[in-house]
Amino acid sequence: MRRDDTAGQGRAWITGAAGLIGSYLVRLAEKYAPPCPIIALTRADLDLTDFVAVERRFLAERPRLVLHCAAMSKTLECQANPAQARRINVEATAHLAALAADADFIFFSSDLVFDGRKGNYVETDAVNPLSVYGETKVEAEAVVSANSRHVVVRTSLNSGASLGGGSAYNEQFRAVWMEGKTLKLFHDEYRSPISATVTARAVWELAARPQGGLWHLAGAERLSRLQIGQLLAARHPELAARIESGSRREYHGAPRPEDTSLNCAKIQLHLSFSLPGLTAWLRENPADPF
Ligand SMILES: NC(=O)c1ccc[n+]([C@@H]2O[C@H](COP(=O)([O-])OP(=O)(O)OC[C@H]3O[C@@H](n4cnc5c(N)ncnc54)[C@H](OP(=O)(O)O)[C@@H]3O)[C@@H](O)[C@H]2O)c1
Repeated sequence: MRRDDTAGQGRAWITGAAGLIGSYLVRLAEKYAPPCPIIALTRADLDLTDFVAVERRFLAERPRLVLHCAAMSKTLECQANPAQARRINVEATAHLAALAADADFIFFSSDLVFDGRKGNYVETDAVNPLSVYGETKVEAEAVVSANSRHVVVRTSLNSGASLGGGSAYNEQFRAVWMEGKTLKLFHDEYRSPISATVTARAVWELAARPQGGLWHLAGAERLSRLQIGQLLAARHPELAARIESGSRREYHGAPRPEDTSLNCAKIQLHLSFSLPGLTAWLRENPADPF
Protein backbone atom coordinates (compact mmCIF):
# COMPACT_ATOMS: atom_id res chain seq x y z
CA MET A 1 0.00 0.00 0.00
CA ARG A 2 1.31 3.43 -0.85
CA ARG A 3 -0.04 6.82 0.03
CA ASP A 4 1.46 9.37 -2.32
CA ASP A 5 1.87 13.05 -1.67
CA THR A 6 3.38 16.06 -3.27
CA ALA A 7 5.03 17.53 -0.20
CA GLY A 8 8.22 15.57 -0.83
CA GLN A 9 8.93 15.01 2.85
CA GLY A 10 10.42 11.54 2.38
CA ARG A 11 8.83 8.15 2.74
CA ALA A 12 7.67 6.30 5.83
CA TRP A 13 8.03 2.54 6.14
CA ILE A 14 5.65 0.57 8.30
CA THR A 15 6.93 -2.95 8.95
CA GLY A 16 4.56 -5.63 10.23
CA ALA A 17 1.84 -3.83 8.27
CA ALA A 18 -0.42 -6.89 8.24
CA GLY A 19 -0.18 -7.21 12.02
CA LEU A 20 -2.52 -5.62 14.52
CA ILE A 21 -0.70 -2.38 15.36
CA GLY A 22 0.92 -1.98 11.94
CA SER A 23 -2.45 -2.30 10.23
CA TYR A 24 -3.91 0.38 12.52
CA LEU A 25 -1.00 2.70 11.72
CA VAL A 26 -1.76 2.18 8.03
CA ARG A 27 -5.53 2.57 8.44
CA LEU A 28 -5.18 5.77 10.48
CA ALA A 29 -2.36 7.33 8.46
CA GLU A 30 -4.77 9.40 6.39
CA LYS A 31 -6.15 10.95 9.58
CA TYR A 32 -3.08 11.34 11.78
CA ALA A 33 0.19 10.88 9.88
CA PRO A 34 2.34 13.74 8.72
CA PRO A 35 1.98 14.15 4.96
CA CYS A 36 4.37 11.67 3.41
CA PRO A 37 4.15 8.58 1.23
CA ILE A 38 3.52 5.48 3.33
CA ILE A 39 5.04 2.16 2.33
CA ALA A 40 3.30 -0.61 4.23
CA LEU A 41 5.47 -3.73 4.35
CA THR A 42 4.11 -7.16 5.13
CA ARG A 43 6.26 -10.27 5.48
CA ALA A 44 5.19 -11.24 1.94
CA ASP A 45 6.57 -7.91 0.66
CA LEU A 46 9.87 -8.16 2.53
CA ASP A 47 11.14 -10.75 4.99
CA LEU A 48 13.10 -8.67 7.48
CA THR A 49 15.42 -11.57 8.25
CA ASP A 50 16.58 -11.53 4.63
CA PHE A 51 19.19 -8.88 5.34
CA VAL A 52 20.41 -8.56 1.76
CA ALA A 53 16.92 -7.91 0.42
CA VAL A 54 16.17 -5.48 3.24
CA GLU A 55 19.31 -3.47 2.58
CA ARG A 56 18.66 -3.39 -1.16
CA ARG A 57 15.12 -2.12 -0.71
CA PHE A 58 16.07 0.32 2.04
CA LEU A 59 18.78 1.91 -0.10
CA ALA A 60 16.38 2.14 -3.04
CA GLU A 61 13.54 3.75 -1.08
CA ARG A 62 15.48 5.60 1.64
CA PRO A 63 12.59 6.07 4.11
CA ARG A 64 13.00 9.06 6.41
CA LEU A 65 10.82 7.34 9.02
CA VAL A 66 10.53 3.67 9.99
CA LEU A 67 7.71 2.44 12.23
CA HIS A 68 8.98 -1.01 13.09
CA CYS A 69 6.04 -3.21 14.14
CA ALA A 70 7.18 -6.55 12.71
CA ALA A 71 7.96 -9.08 15.41
CA MET A 72 7.33 -12.50 16.80
CA SER A 73 4.84 -11.04 19.23
CA LYS A 74 3.24 -14.03 20.94
CA THR A 75 4.94 -15.03 24.18
CA LEU A 76 4.21 -18.75 23.83
CA GLU A 77 5.61 -18.84 20.31
CA CYS A 78 8.79 -17.06 21.45
CA GLN A 79 9.14 -19.42 24.39
CA ALA A 80 8.91 -22.41 22.02
CA ASN A 81 11.25 -20.91 19.38
CA PRO A 82 13.82 -18.73 21.16
CA ALA A 83 16.31 -18.68 18.27
CA GLN A 84 13.68 -17.58 15.78
CA ALA A 85 12.34 -15.03 18.26
CA ARG A 86 15.81 -13.56 18.65
CA ARG A 87 16.35 -13.52 14.88
CA ILE A 88 13.31 -11.35 14.13
CA ASN A 89 12.91 -9.45 17.39
CA VAL A 90 16.56 -8.60 17.95
CA GLU A 91 18.73 -9.24 14.89
CA ALA A 92 16.30 -7.95 12.25
CA THR A 93 15.59 -4.92 14.45
CA ALA A 94 19.30 -4.21 14.87
CA HIS A 95 19.86 -4.53 11.12
CA LEU A 96 17.01 -2.18 10.27
CA ALA A 97 17.99 0.33 12.96
CA ALA A 98 21.56 0.42 11.58
CA LEU A 99 20.28 1.06 8.04
CA ALA A 100 18.02 3.78 9.45
CA ALA A 101 20.80 5.41 11.50
CA ASP A 102 20.10 8.80 9.94
CA ALA A 103 16.32 8.41 9.82
CA ASP A 104 13.61 8.52 12.47
CA PHE A 105 12.90 5.08 13.82
CA ILE A 106 10.18 3.90 16.20
CA PHE A 107 10.53 0.43 17.70
CA PHE A 108 7.67 -1.31 19.52
CA SER A 109 8.54 -2.91 22.80
CA SER A 110 6.39 -4.28 25.57
CA ASP A 111 5.38 -4.00 29.21
CA LEU A 112 6.69 -7.59 29.49
CA VAL A 113 10.23 -6.26 29.86
CA PHE A 114 9.27 -5.94 33.55
CA ASP A 115 8.94 -8.71 36.15
CA GLY A 116 5.63 -7.35 37.41
CA ARG A 117 6.57 -7.05 41.06
CA LYS A 118 6.01 -3.28 41.18
CA GLY A 119 3.38 -2.16 38.67
CA ASN A 120 2.77 1.40 37.50
CA TYR A 121 6.19 1.27 35.84
CA VAL A 122 7.89 4.45 34.65
CA GLU A 123 10.49 4.57 31.90
CA THR A 124 13.41 4.69 34.34
CA ASP A 125 12.41 1.54 36.25
CA ALA A 126 14.75 -1.44 35.97
CA VAL A 127 13.77 -4.18 33.52
CA ASN A 128 13.78 -7.86 34.42
CA PRO A 129 11.95 -9.97 31.84
CA LEU A 130 10.52 -13.34 32.83
CA SER A 131 10.01 -14.71 29.30
CA VAL A 132 11.98 -15.19 26.09
CA TYR A 133 9.71 -12.60 24.46
CA GLY A 134 10.56 -10.06 27.16
CA GLU A 135 14.26 -10.88 26.90
CA THR A 136 14.28 -10.24 23.16
CA LYS A 137 12.54 -6.92 23.69
CA VAL A 138 15.08 -5.83 26.31
CA GLU A 139 17.93 -6.75 23.99
CA ALA A 140 16.39 -4.93 21.05
CA GLU A 141 15.63 -1.87 23.17
CA ALA A 142 19.32 -1.59 24.05
CA VAL A 143 20.33 -1.76 20.39
CA VAL A 144 17.73 0.81 19.29
CA SER A 145 18.44 3.18 22.18
CA ALA A 146 22.12 3.37 21.24
CA ASN A 147 21.01 5.90 18.61
CA SER A 148 19.65 8.91 20.52
CA ARG A 149 17.48 9.86 17.55
CA HIS A 150 15.62 6.55 17.70
CA VAL A 151 12.48 5.88 19.73
CA VAL A 152 11.35 2.91 21.81
CA VAL A 153 7.63 2.69 22.58
CA ARG A 154 6.59 0.18 25.22
CA THR A 155 2.95 -0.71 24.94
CA SER A 156 0.58 -3.10 26.73
CA LEU A 157 -2.31 -5.31 25.58
CA ASN A 158 -3.76 -3.82 22.39
CA SER A 159 -7.29 -4.61 21.25
CA GLY A 160 -8.91 -4.13 17.88
CA ALA A 161 -9.87 -5.84 14.65
CA SER A 162 -6.88 -7.54 13.07
CA LEU A 163 -6.75 -8.08 9.31
CA GLY A 164 -6.84 -11.85 9.72
CA GLY A 165 -9.54 -11.60 12.38
CA GLY A 166 -7.78 -13.65 15.05
CA SER A 167 -4.61 -12.08 16.37
CA ALA A 168 -5.91 -9.47 18.85
CA TYR A 169 -6.61 -10.81 22.35
CA ASN A 170 -10.24 -9.61 22.20
CA GLU A 171 -10.72 -11.64 19.01
CA GLN A 172 -9.19 -14.71 20.66
CA PHE A 173 -11.43 -14.38 23.73
CA ARG A 174 -14.48 -14.07 21.51
CA ALA A 175 -13.45 -17.10 19.44
CA VAL A 176 -13.40 -19.22 22.59
CA TRP A 177 -16.87 -18.05 23.59
CA MET A 178 -18.23 -18.59 20.09
CA GLU A 179 -17.21 -22.22 20.44
CA GLY A 180 -19.27 -22.35 23.63
CA LYS A 181 -16.17 -22.86 25.79
CA THR A 182 -15.37 -21.31 29.15
CA LEU A 183 -12.45 -18.91 29.37
CA LYS A 184 -10.29 -19.01 32.48
CA LEU A 185 -8.91 -15.55 33.20
CA PHE A 186 -6.44 -14.57 35.91
CA HIS A 187 -7.72 -12.27 38.60
CA ASP A 188 -4.16 -11.59 39.75
CA GLU A 189 -2.43 -10.48 36.53
CA TYR A 190 -2.65 -6.78 35.71
CA ARG A 191 -2.01 -4.84 32.52
CA SER A 192 -2.86 -1.43 31.05
CA PRO A 193 -5.00 -2.36 28.03
CA ILE A 194 -5.34 0.09 25.17
CA SER A 195 -7.22 0.19 21.90
CA ALA A 196 -4.95 -0.12 18.85
CA THR A 197 -6.74 2.97 17.53
CA VAL A 198 -5.34 4.99 20.44
CA THR A 199 -1.89 3.46 20.08
CA ALA A 200 -1.76 4.34 16.39
CA ARG A 201 -2.92 7.92 16.95
CA ALA A 202 -0.33 8.48 19.69
CA VAL A 203 2.48 6.95 17.64
CA TRP A 204 1.66 9.14 14.66
CA GLU A 205 1.83 12.15 17.00
CA LEU A 206 5.24 11.00 18.26
CA ALA A 207 6.39 10.51 14.69
CA ALA A 208 5.34 14.03 13.77
CA ARG A 209 7.67 15.47 16.44
CA PRO A 210 10.54 13.01 16.64
CA GLN A 211 12.79 13.41 19.65
CA GLY A 212 14.19 9.99 20.46
CA GLY A 213 13.96 8.25 23.80
CA LEU A 214 11.85 5.70 25.63
CA TRP A 215 8.09 6.11 26.03
CA HIS A 216 5.37 4.16 27.81
CA LEU A 217 2.14 4.10 25.79
CA ALA A 218 -0.80 2.26 27.28
CA GLY A 219 -4.29 2.67 28.68
CA ALA A 220 -4.84 4.86 31.73
CA GLU A 221 -6.59 2.08 33.66
CA ARG A 222 -4.94 -0.89 35.38
CA LEU A 223 -7.11 -3.96 34.88
CA SER A 224 -6.77 -7.67 35.64
CA ARG A 225 -7.24 -10.15 32.83
CA LEU A 226 -10.48 -11.15 34.51
CA GLN A 227 -11.73 -7.55 34.49
CA ILE A 228 -10.76 -7.18 30.83
CA GLY A 229 -12.70 -10.35 29.99
CA GLN A 230 -15.71 -9.06 31.90
CA LEU A 231 -15.63 -5.80 29.91
CA LEU A 232 -15.55 -7.78 26.69
CA ALA A 233 -18.35 -10.07 27.83
CA ALA A 234 -20.52 -7.07 28.76
CA ARG A 235 -19.89 -5.62 25.31
CA HIS A 236 -21.09 -8.84 23.62
CA PRO A 237 -24.12 -10.19 25.47
CA GLU A 238 -24.99 -12.17 22.33
CA LEU A 239 -22.04 -14.47 23.05
CA ALA A 240 -23.32 -15.52 26.50
CA ALA A 241 -19.66 -15.47 27.56
CA ARG A 242 -18.57 -18.02 30.13
CA ILE A 243 -15.68 -16.89 32.34
CA GLU A 244 -13.94 -18.67 35.17
CA SER A 245 -11.69 -16.79 37.55
CA GLY A 246 -8.19 -18.27 37.88
CA SER A 247 -4.79 -17.45 39.29
CA ARG A 248 -1.53 -17.00 37.41
CA ARG A 249 0.00 -19.10 40.17
CA GLU A 250 -1.79 -22.14 38.70
CA TYR A 251 -0.11 -21.59 35.34
CA HIS A 252 2.43 -24.22 34.28
CA GLY A 253 4.61 -22.34 31.81
CA ALA A 254 7.15 -19.54 31.96
CA PRO A 255 6.47 -17.42 35.06
CA ARG A 256 3.90 -14.69 34.45
CA PRO A 257 4.48 -11.17 35.75
CA GLU A 258 1.83 -10.06 38.21
CA ASP A 259 1.49 -6.37 37.42
CA THR A 260 3.10 -4.81 34.36
CA SER A 261 0.84 -1.76 34.31
CA LEU A 262 2.58 1.23 32.73
CA ASN A 263 2.73 4.80 33.94
CA CYS A 264 2.29 6.96 30.83
CA ALA A 265 2.71 10.42 32.38
CA LYS A 266 5.74 11.16 30.21
CA ILE A 267 4.10 10.58 26.84
CA GLN A 268 0.87 12.17 28.02
CA LEU A 269 2.61 15.55 28.21
CA HIS A 270 3.40 15.30 24.50
CA LEU A 271 -0.01 14.18 23.21
CA SER A 272 -2.86 16.36 22.00
CA PHE A 273 -5.43 14.06 23.69
CA SER A 274 -5.81 12.21 27.00
CA LEU A 275 -4.92 8.53 26.98
CA PRO A 276 -8.15 6.85 28.03
CA GLY A 277 -8.62 3.86 30.30
CA LEU A 278 -10.26 0.90 28.56
CA THR A 279 -13.59 1.29 30.37
CA ALA A 280 -13.90 4.96 29.40
CA TRP A 281 -12.71 4.27 25.86
CA LEU A 282 -15.37 1.62 25.32
CA ARG A 283 -18.10 3.78 26.85
CA GLU A 284 -17.21 6.69 24.57
CA ASN A 285 -16.60 4.60 21.45
CA PRO A 286 -19.51 2.22 20.98
CA ALA A 287 -18.34 1.40 17.45
CA ASP A 288 -14.83 0.33 18.56
CA PRO A 289 -14.30 -3.28 17.42
CA PHE A 290 -13.59 -4.60 20.92
N1 LIG B 1 -0.51 -6.21 20.28
C1 LIG B 1 -0.12 -6.07 21.53
O1 LIG B 1 -0.93 -6.23 22.46
C2 LIG B 1 1.31 -5.68 21.84
C3 LIG B 1 1.65 -5.42 23.18
C4 LIG B 1 2.96 -5.05 23.48
C5 LIG B 1 3.90 -4.94 22.47
N2 LIG B 1 3.54 -5.21 21.19
C6 LIG B 1 4.58 -5.10 20.15
O2 LIG B 1 4.12 -4.23 19.13
C7 LIG B 1 4.58 -4.67 17.85
C8 LIG B 1 3.39 -4.90 16.94
O3 LIG B 1 2.54 -5.86 17.57
P1 LIG B 1 1.32 -6.53 16.82
O4 LIG B 1 0.33 -6.90 17.83
O5 LIG B 1 0.90 -5.69 15.67
O6 LIG B 1 2.00 -7.86 16.30
P2 LIG B 1 1.43 -8.90 15.23
O7 LIG B 1 -0.02 -8.69 15.03
O8 LIG B 1 1.93 -10.22 15.63
O9 LIG B 1 2.17 -8.43 13.91
C9 LIG B 1 3.53 -8.63 13.72
C10 LIG B 1 3.77 -8.73 12.24
O10 LIG B 1 5.17 -8.92 12.01
C11 LIG B 1 5.28 -9.77 10.89
N3 LIG B 1 6.56 -10.45 10.85
C12 LIG B 1 7.00 -11.45 11.65
N4 LIG B 1 8.19 -11.88 11.25
C13 LIG B 1 8.52 -11.14 10.15
C14 LIG B 1 9.63 -11.14 9.28
N5 LIG B 1 10.66 -11.99 9.42
N6 LIG B 1 9.64 -10.26 8.25
C15 LIG B 1 8.61 -9.40 8.07
N7 LIG B 1 7.52 -9.36 8.87
C16 LIG B 1 7.49 -10.24 9.90
C17 LIG B 1 4.16 -10.77 11.07
O11 LIG B 1 3.89 -11.39 9.84
P3 LIG B 1 3.19 -12.83 9.80
O12 LIG B 1 1.76 -12.55 10.17
O13 LIG B 1 3.40 -13.28 8.41
O14 LIG B 1 3.89 -13.66 10.84
C18 LIG B 1 3.03 -9.90 11.58
O15 LIG B 1 2.21 -9.42 10.53
C19 LIG B 1 5.40 -5.92 18.13
O16 LIG B 1 6.75 -5.56 18.27
C20 LIG B 1 4.87 -6.41 19.45
O17 LIG B 1 5.83 -7.18 20.15
C21 LIG B 1 2.28 -5.58 20.85
